[in-house]
Amino acid sequence: MIISGKKISQEILGELSEQIKKLESKRAPCLAYILVGNNSASELYVKRKVQACEKVGITVKSNCFDPDVKEQQLLEMISSLNLDPTVDGILVQLPLPPHINVQQIVEAVDPQKDVDGFHPFNIGRLLLGYTPFFVPCTPLGIHELLMRSSIQISHKHVVIMGRSNIVGKPLAALLMQKNTHTNATVTLVHSHTVNTAQITSQADILVCAMGAPLHVKSDMIKKGAVVIDVGINRLHGKLVGDVDFEKVKPQVSQITPVPGGVGPMTIAMLLSNTLRSYQMKAQLA
Ligand code: GUN
Repeated sequence: MIISGKKISQEILGELSEQIKKLESKRAPCLAYILVGNNSASELYVKRKVQACEKVGITVKSNCFDPDVKEQQLLEMISSLNLDPTVDGILVQLPLPPHINVQQIVEAVDPQKDVDGFHPFNIGRLLLGYTPFFVPCTPLGIHELLMRSSIQISHKHVVIMGRSNIVGKPLAALLMQKNTHTNATVTLVHSHTVNTAQITSQADILVCAMGAPLHVKSDMIKKGAVVIDVGINRLHGKLVGDVDFEKVKPQVSQITPVPGGVGPMTIAMLLSNTLRSYQMKAQLA
């Protein structure tokens, strides 16, 4: 069976839209983004995020910079967005050009506006099992996808392929937490793992997030497993995941497609985090 992230994300967007309509304040939730340079994939991702915001009633503040922008200029921009009471969420689209220190930029964002959930404060809280202000959007989207597809996580062996700061590491932290809807046994494999296929073949839930087009074949997967494909790769002009979807599909119980799987869930969670930020502020006011 195919898990449609597209369909589930549309349901979530509908729910967010309803919640935003009911807000009593005159001000709508607001997401500010920073986009540096002209990376076409980043431009496309940001465009999708903006379209989704507009659909649910979140206002967007755009801040685009030339590829040779000075780090100081970005830090000043972030500082002013941190102080702006009309901005609920700040998103710095990654990757940044090589002359920019990503760590400095990520750490400059106010953790209470860090709707991407990348700030060490939020990642640290996630790992420790303290409630973070925000959980990174792709791990949160995968969790939501599993929940809404009635896939049990507790007691299951989840194998994650890939150790990125955006997906692999925070997803491992999220799914291993001591909570009713997590409690997974998590194994994380990466480019230096020995006997990767032997490990992935033991997964009840296999999450592929290493960015290698069509890398995961049927002999790496247990019969009846659930497969979540996070990869977005361009191969011969076509968008493909990290999983060889057509060959793998017959032997698994559920699988996400690319496109239309995890991607739209990431966007839905970004909007959800932005509304959460708005609501956290309203509670303090
Ligand atoms: N680049 C790739 N994925 C993401 C994401 O989820 N957020 C940001 N800010 N940049 C990204």
